[in-house]
Amino acid sequence: MKSTMLVAPSLLSADFLNLGQEVEAICATQCDYLHIDVMDGHFVPNLTIGPLVVEKIAKIATKPLDIHLMTRNSEFFVNLFAPLKPAFLSVHIEEVCHLDRLIEEIKSQGIKAGVVLNPHTSLDSLRYILPKLDLVLLMSVNPGFGGQKFIPYSLQKLRDLRDLRDNLNPQCLIEIDGGISAENIALIKESGADMVVAGSYIFGAKDYAKAVESLKI
Ligand code: DX5
Ligand code: ZN
Repeated sequence: MKSTMLVAPSLLSADFLNLGQEVEAICATQCDYLHIDVMDGHFVPNLTIGPLVVEKIAKIATKPLDIHLMTRNSEFFVNLFAPLKPAFLSVHIEEVCHLDRLIEEIKSQGIKAGVVLNPHTSLDSLRYILPKLDLVLLMSVNPGFGGQKFIPYSLQKLRDLRDLRDNLNPQCLIEIDGGISAENIALIKESGADMVVAGSYIFGAKDYAKAVESLKI
């Protein structure tokens, strides 16, 4: 796949006191999706936003939502967020017991289903479920916070996932999340990502449009 990198800015690094303006500003760029990080204080040591806030975001956003659930009890959270009709709804593989059933549930609502892997989680766990997925999201930092450093072994994992994806389900997108900026985007692209999440790099920039553009290689 040699298309332009898809870019999903993570609202986690936006100014929450001016969330409406931030959503409008980021939607005015060439970004492809809005990445929404849902944290429950159990699966990860942080809390973010729930469906009431995400519903308001969805109302004014002109880009489709890419929702990343970092939660225990993912079935419960899928039921909360699916009615908001995101483009992608992704759950952590480490957490879900009946993953096949949950993926079917997400897809039955016309939403693209994704599975997320923590940095250490082996790709072996994807072997049988990958043919059913629309997206695999690799964490390149330990989830819970924005502004962390990219874990270097994630590049090898990306290359391995690309091989697996090409064999088992070429339609499935590969997304990567954590520590991404203009500095490492070329390596990330070469290693096989189709889509990147970037929070602190984009929202820390003076010019959001330029920052997004620098990732669209
Ligand atoms: C981390 C979140 C990320 C985060 C990325 O748990 O999943 O989406 O916002 O932030 P940066 O790009 O700053 O690493
Ligand atoms: Zn995320």
